[in-house]
Amino acid sequence: MARIAVTGATGFVGGTVAAVLADKGHEVTCLVRRDPGPDFPWPWQVVDSSDVGDLESALDGKDAVAHLAILNDFALMYADRRAGWDGYVGLTERVVAAANVTGAQVAFISSDWVFDGVGHLYPEDFPPNPVNYYGVLKVASELVVLHQADRGFVARVGGVQGLHQTKAHGPRLQDCGFGFFVLALVDSVRAGRRFTVWEDPHINNVATPIVAPEIGALLGRGIDRGVDGILHFAGATSVTRRELAMATCEAFDLDPGMVDFGPVPDEARLPAPVPFDTSMDGSRTMALLGTVAHPIEAQLRALAAEVETGRPVPLS
Ligand SMILES: NC(=O)c1ccc[n+]([C@@H]2O[C@H](COP(=O)([O-])OP(=O)(O)OC[C@H]3O[C@@H](n4cnc5c(N)ncnc54)[C@H](OP(=O)(O)O)[C@@H]3O)[C@@H](O)[C@H]2O)c1
Repeated sequence: MARIAVTGATGFVGGTVAAVLADKGHEVTCLVRRDPGPDFPWPWQVVDSSDVGDLESALDGKDAVAHLAILNDFALMYADRRAGWDGYVGLTERVVAAANVTGAQVAFISSDWVFDGVGHLYPEDFPPNPVNYYGVLKVASELVVLHQADRGFVARVGGVQGLHQTKAHGPRLQDCGFGFFVLALVDSVRAGRRFTVWEDPHINNVATPIVAPEIGALLGRGIDRGVDGILHFAGATSVTRRELAMATCEAFDLDPGMVDFGPVPDEARLPAPVPFDTSMDGSRTMALLGTVAHPIEAQLRALAAEVETGRPVPLS
């Protein structure tokens, strides 16, 4: 079992990754910016992520660092390009520099938004071509890991579904990406409110959804096996928003008659282009990690079990 530091563990995906790695017996330490409070479930350490020396001390004795922290504020990264660059690329450079000194392997989570969205089922070796600054920042961060880390890998994820492990306020609303889409629909229909699935050529409309706990399981396998290069942590099924909505009704036993299809509200649009089809092929990844990509029905069953129990349910 490995000693793994996790950045971004107070966030949605990072918290689930920390939970799954700990459940699988790894020794997890969450590198946080401030005291996360008495209910935070995993060991943590406050680290100044602007200081490579501080990161080096935090990574001392660790086998790996799962790096998920980002400046997750689309409007701010556009308003202040330098802050955006530092919140992605600069931060990744410092994590990688520290990991190289201590010998830790770097497991970096990237995004399906590195692609332009005009293809379909992008394989791991397909050249990225981001259409917005977020995608540029993720590609630049990927290159830092691929070319500067002594040991490590890049794992792209997209269409991530799951519960937030440490924030009780639950799922977000539907947005121009796929994240939280399923639970936004489930919450709405269970509360008796009709749900409108947005359909529009200018939002992310096709993806290969994966539950967040499976990202934790695959990341653990990548660390255990010491893999390198680019991985795709993708579900096995490419779906449109409409198809995902229907599969969700089936999996959660909801009335599909409560679901409408309509345009995106203007206030929900991002101030930048959004890739349309970001579905990814993860065949090479799954072979490397000794597992398989799971179909949407299995992903949704795992999510339903997670909602039921409050505990992450990985598939691998
Ligand atoms: N959610 C998705 O659907 C999705 C899809 C594709 C890829 N991803 C990738 O998954 C990763 C996690 O995303 P998420 O949705 O879980 O984000 P999130 O919930 O917004 O979490 C962001 C995390 O980063 C931390 N952070 C921000 N700036 C930091 C800094 N300067 N130093 C240290 N920590 C900092 C935050 O800490 P505080 O709590 O202190 O603010 C928080 O823990 C990202 O790399 C993202 O690109 C996510």
